[in-house]
Amino acid sequence: MASGPGSESSGPVPDDHVIVLFGATGDLARRKLLPGLFHLAKAGLLPARYRIVGSAPSQAALSDDAFRERAREAAAEFGRSKPEGPEWQKFEEALTFGAADPDDPEPLLSAVRKAEQAVGGEPRRLFHLAVPPMAFASVIEMLGATGLAENARVIVEKPFGTDLPSAQALNATIHSVFDESRIFRIDHFLGKESVDNILALRFANGLFEPIWNRDHISHVQIDVPEKIGIEGRAQFFEGTGTFRDMIVTHLFQLMGFIAMEPPTELVAKSLRDEKEKVFQSMRHLDPAQVVRGQYEGYRDEPGVDPRSDTETFIALRVELDNWRWAGVPFFLRSGKSLGEGRHVVTLGFREPALRMFPQPAQGGSEAARNNELVIDFDDPGRIATHFLVKEPGPAMRLEEAGMVFDYGDSFNSMYALEGYERLILDAMLGDQSLFTRSDGIERLWESSAPLLANPLPVEPYAPGSWGPKSIDRLIAPYRWSLPHRR
Ligand code: BG6
Repeated sequence: MASGPGSESSGPVPDDHVIVLFGATGDLARRKLLPGLFHLAKAGLLPARYRIVGSAPSQAALSDDAFRERAREAAAEFGRSKPEGPEWQKFEEALTFGAADPDDPEPLLSAVRKAEQAVGGEPRRLFHLAVPPMAFASVIEMLGATGLAENARVIVEKPFGTDLPSAQALNATIHSVFDESRIFRIDHFLGKESVDNILALRFANGLFEPIWNRDHISHVQIDVPEKIGIEGRAQFFEGTGTFRDMIVTHLFQLMGFIAMEPPTELVAKSLRDEKEKVFQSMRHLDPAQVVRGQYEGYRDEPGVDPRSDTETFIALRVELDNWRWAGVPFFLRSGKSLGEGRHVVTLGFREPALRMFPQPAQGGSEAARNNELVIDFDDPGRIATHFLVKEPGPAMRLEEAGMVFDYGDSFNSMYALEGYERLILDAMLGDQSLFTRSDGIERLWESSAPLLANPLPVEPYAPGSWGPKSIDRLIAPYRWSLPHRR
């Protein structure tokens, strides 16, 4: 691996590649993948020689020029790097298109052959399956049957299955073509800077790791409310719901990083071993410890069943049966059409053994006495601690105080990578640290089985609220850190 010429980055640059984007005409490619690939190019992080082949079924086929135009519009609308100047021209020249149907992959094969000739030598192949889950198997089978899978890695989008049997079947299909070392099950949350920062915070400091356990922490919250609704994705959402869309995919994965034991090394095998151990220790979910919600008005959205029981909100209590976390509940919450869009992890600390001090002054509640460490994943992210101090004056009166570290104030994040950018780069480099392993995802579905089999009915909540009222009972005697905590 060499450093890119004129590179603004200091990281490694991948070997020469032909990247094939299945679903190149879709929403994910437009919002994230095409703008993200250009940002990587601009940051000097794409290989010295590369080509990007867009693909889609023949009825959505584009000419090379039309694909370039679409990519330009996508980068203009959604990218941090605007499509202009010599960098854009070079990127644009690397884009071509090849349609593929399961029974007619020829246009794609020919586009890949041309791209490989243009790159020269023996470039690696990277396939990104940005297609609906039901299309995963047929694309994988086509890659196997045509020989395209040789010398290739594959990025598979979420959701990875909808339950244990479907995840096992999907793993079996993929493993019949790719061995595990070439499979990258993507979860863009794990590409967020702040996830790496959890590792840094925990394992680079003597300050936090000694207290990161059941002796000092009373409970943990992983809270990802979203302000947006389903944004016209009724068809996807009706068949998926928030548990599969957000919890299995994103929040459980975050929990893995927060709860893991120290890895022996910061390498993919150790990190993934420790994360999978967390999932192994996860108790099967108890449907009585889950609140499923649906925002009022969801059933009137175009394409939604007027009697739909799909949850647009979920809050749940998760227990980990291991030595570090036994008895410490993890509360996870996510939902659409809530009061704010945030990404927050809160660790609540146990109270001191003796209560020598009077209650905090006005407005102070019992819960506010607890110390908290709050990790905010919003880009660029921040970390805050909350504790009690004495208010100046003759009386011993306590008030809440905080210390905040803000990424945006402390570092120039111009060349920071977004989740997808970071993970596509890692896949090109062959680094699986931030990708989900087959046993991990299967174990998560296994633990989820009781909830999937017996979900309680959805409870309504008002758009703009924080979910159904019963979430306060779920978390008692603690309380949700949001929306109170800034
Ligand atoms: C996606 C989900 O994976 O993540 C969406 O399908 C959700 O429903 C999105 O809105 C949230 O991602 P982010 O990074 O915007 O919080």
